Amino acid sequence: TKRAVVIGAGHYLPERIVENAEFEGKIDTTDEWIRSRSGIERRHFVGEGETTSTMATAAAKAALADAGKTAADVDAVIVATSTPDLTFPSAATMVQAQLEMERGFAFDVQAVCAGFVYALANANALIISGQADRVLVIGSETFSKIMDWTDRSTSVLFGDGAGAILLEAQTGEGTSDDRGILSTDLNSDGRYKDLLYVDGGISTGTTGYLRMQGNQVFRHAVEKLAASANTAMERAGVSPDEVDWIVPHQANIRIIQGTAKKLNLSMDNVVVTVQDHGNTSAASIPLALSVGQERGQIKKGDLLVTEAIGGGLAWGAVVLRW
Ligand code: ACO
Repeated sequence: TKRAVVIGAGHYLPERIVENAEFEGKIDTTDEWIRSRSGIERRHFVGEGETTSTMATAAAKAALADAGKTAADVDAVIVATSTPDLTFPSAATMVQAQLEMERGFAFDVQAVCAGFVYALANANALIISGQADRVLVIGSETFSKIMDWTDRSTSVLFGDGAGAILLEAQTGEGTSDDRGILSTDLNSDGRYKDLLYVDGGISTGTTGYLRMQGNQVFRHAVEKLAASANTAMERAGVSPDEVDWIVPHQANIRIIQGTAKKLNLSMDNVVVTVQDHGNTSAASIPLALSVGQERGQIKKGDLLVTEAIGGGLAWGAVVLRW
């Protein structure tokens, strides 16, 4: 049987770094409030000419270089995003063109902050079914474009960026090599729409800004993330004490700590980037995977659990051996 194995990772962050202190004086907030309530210290924002697809392409090129592959080796491109360049075509087909690919297929996945977990589950299914042998899975977001800069409860929390991994079909039969995606768990509950949404869109003929009842989202997060991670671990046949790294969606350090505690795991086993990136929605997990590998935390053969929750509500987890 085939396994979807990670053979490369990369990321891209815009040059412009905005420290918490830059918000002081513009809105009624302090560095101290942002740090203590969210764990965020700084975030990156896109500059002139940078978009979701250009950041996604840069991250994809870094992942291809890490894998020692070229775009010609890729069968499919999946971009997880809620902030595509245009209503259509998909950001993924724009990345396909920017990579100068002349074959294969590409599409976007929209599950807000859970987007990368949803994209991984889709890529895994494409590989197991034989539809594709190499899939670029990218998370890329420009949440700075949907911020209400007068709303202190949201505008300080989000950032821009992109991360990517390259998955390859491998059999691993007859060997002890059990790398690859071991299980996935996806959930959503549309009854919670009002907790986190953008109050505008195409079919309503409006543009909009992100609206969030942060404390309500918080209430759901730890419980749902831990339940999904446990379900995915059970499906994979692994126990929490075998896990080398939790790579969580990076929304808030207190949610990350709460979820680790609920899973009986130490913060020493958690990859944390929220202090430097803020909440980059679907980009946060692939950013953390790539940065974690770069820091020397995540190594080949490590057992990883990724988990995320966001607008929908939509949430899920993926267990993989790196
Ligand atoms: N600076 C100073 N004060 C602030 C700020 C700010 N930037 N923002 C809010 N406050 C105030 C509020 O107005 C409130 O004041 P009040 O008590 O006078 O009304 C007070 O701080 C407390 O507000 P809470 O919202 O209760 O604060 P909380 O401790 O819950 O922290 C936060 C807020 C950081 C948003 C937290 O709830 C959180 O991180 N929630 C989850 C966010 C998340 O995970 N989102 C999901 C992923 S995103 C996606 O899917 C796109």
